[in-house]
Amino acid sequence: MSDLHNRKVYHPNEEFAKNAAIKSMDEYRALQDEATNDYEGFWGRFAKEKLDWVEPFTNVLDESDFPFVKWFDGGKLNVSSQCIDRHLDARGDKTAILFEGDRGDVQKITYKELSKNVNKFANLLKEDFEVKKGDRVVIYMPMIPEAAYAMLACARIGAIHSIVFGGFSAEALKDRIQDAEAKVVITADGAYRKTKPYMLKPVVDTALEGETPVKKVLVVERNNEEINWVDGRDYSYHELIKNKSDVCAPEVMDSEDPLFLLYTSGSTGKPKGVQHNSAGYILWAQMTMEWVFDVKEDDVYWCTADVGWITGHTYIVYGPLAMGATTVMFEGVITYPDAGRPWKMVQDHKVNQFYTAPTAIRVLHKMGEHEPANYDVSSLKVLGTVGEPIDPPAWKWYYEEVGNSKCAIVDTYWQTETGGHVVSPLPGATPIKPACATLPLPGIMAEIIDEEGNTPELGEKGLMCITRPWPAMIRGVWGDKERFIKSYFGDVKKDGKPVYFTGDGAVYDKDGYITITGRTDDVINVSGHRMGTAEVEAAILKDDNVAEVAVVGKPHPLKGEGIFAYIALKSEVSDEEAEKKSINNIIKQEIGNIALCDHIIFVPGLPKTRSGKIMRRILRSIAKGEEITQDISTLEDPSIVEKIVAMAK
Ligand code: WT7
Repeated sequence: MSDLHNRKVYHPNEEFAKNAAIKSMDEYRALQDEATNDYEGFWGRFAKEKLDWVEPFTNVLDESDFPFVKWFDGGKLNVSSQCIDRHLDARGDKTAILFEGDRGDVQKITYKELSKNVNKFANLLKEDFEVKKGDRVVIYMPMIPEAAYAMLACARIGAIHSIVFGGFSAEALKDRIQDAEAKVVITADGAYRKTKPYMLKPVVDTALEGETPVKKVLVVERNNEEINWVDGRDYSYHELIKNKSDVCAPEVMDSEDPLFLLYTSGSTGKPKGVQHNSAGYILWAQMTMEWVFDVKEDDVYWCTADVGWITGHTYIVYGPLAMGATTVMFEGVITYPDAGRPWKMVQDHKVNQFYTAPTAIRVLHKMGEHEPANYDVSSLKVLGTVGEPIDPPAWKWYYEEVGNSKCAIVDTYWQTETGGHVVSPLPGATPIKPACATLPLPGIMAEIIDEEGNTPELGEKGLMCITRPWPAMIRGVWGDKERFIKSYFGDVKKDGKPVYFTGDGAVYDKDGYITITGRTDDVINVSGHRMGTAEVEAAILKDDNVAEVAVVGKPHPLKGEGIFAYIALKSEVSDEEAEKKSINNIIKQEIGNIALCDHIIFVPGLPKTRSGKIMRRILRSIAKGEEITQDISTLEDPSIVEKIVAMAK
């Protein structure tokens, strides 16, 4: 970070800024001042302007039970109506979802068609599966339009969806189903990847073995491969949907009725079910679409995430549809058949905003540096990045080769728990710097502070916190009030009051710009996916021959971080490679391929303090190949460090 204060500044494209939602830093500051001076007034104004209320709210923010807060209390609405019904008159024939399949098949679903499909789906869930308001529905789906219909159908009838990313294993799916006590699973036979069919339904079958709260499984046929059907449990979507009415009155929901759960990793224990509620979430999803991506009526917007992650929730489905945009949904792999695929899609669909992760940018850069020039990508106006700190070379390539040095890059910093962006440039207003998330969005009181709430010295790392509740914030950890408080409000206080701590470190530069430096806890960021070290360790411990394990992140040129495991075996093995394979196999079964270890080394023991705490910091340094500068005299057996260093070479 030596050049932190001297990074090149890129000013917004002037032509673009003229029509932008927020046109200048003056406008940005005016909004942020408005929020600072009258926080509730600010949010109340936007909630009235942006949402269609069935009944108006009577109170903007209730903090009396902090950190359990209530936004827009008394208000009634339905999130699926926000995303569909209110657009039908003005833009019923506009494409809502522009789907491109893995094999290049394209489907354009208008708002009218979306309405019919979602209403039928909602009726199916109600009539055939007896899903009621408050019931949990697990969605384990590929990237096909039916995944969005399923989400919106749940929202329509007030059911709480919990999407599990299709790359998670049966065991991981089972854990999430049980924690949420889901009564229905919506899945597909499978889908296509690199033109070949792959399967999901068999994973669901395994996850439901033994005792399960799940009564019914709905299977969307996508690849029509042969699957197993369990009588009385499994039903074909295409069969059941046929005779459903395309009218389904939306359930009238309270502002604070839960909308969805999404499981994410923490530094300890099992993944936690992050709960988002209705009004505050959808308000911020829509506002950030307008402010950060600056989507206009005729624009085509594409986010490459998977619906299984929060980015897919907020910025493929809820945000774009709430504002009436055309959102691209892509089933395939962005580097297939070659690294020109996304640029061909930008050309074919005239994409105006493109949003992806640094790991994808690095891969596209490496595999197809000059591919963007082979296509007409001149429709692009805003480029987004999310999920991990982006490195300056990848940023530069994105800016110059993809954006032709005329598009703003919005480096959007946020988390599953924040619901939507919290720190990000505004494309028509904020002068940007490479690899820098810049400034808090208007209305978000994001600050870098230390544990006592003081601002760190210039250039010193601090903790990325949000000092006031915001509408899209996490409302709870499903079934675990204590964990919610401890995970997010336990570490940092400002003016004596606990504030939300993100788990990330960050640093201000001389202009007050925020640069995120990465997690300060035991969470690893692999290709923009959050992995808890505790979860990976728990999986590895299932191997009978493993005595002890510690995993840490190791910087990886494409993935951001890779997983490095230090393992002490109970007894020596003759074939270390076979043992490593079997350990990765267990991880695959317990979590999924996303958590496979890049490096495994077998060590005689782990560096522990006398109280038995593993010194992960030392292991991180060893994984990076750094000199060990930490004090190791407090270790139970300091000689172990030298041994491990030698083995890791
Ligand atoms: C963690 C959240 C937010 C959607 C995707 C990931 C890291 C996210 C940035 C960014 C640096 C970032 C943080 C954060 N992160 N965006 N622009 N710059 N780091 O959601 O799985 O909840 O992960 O991703 O470490 O805490 P998630």
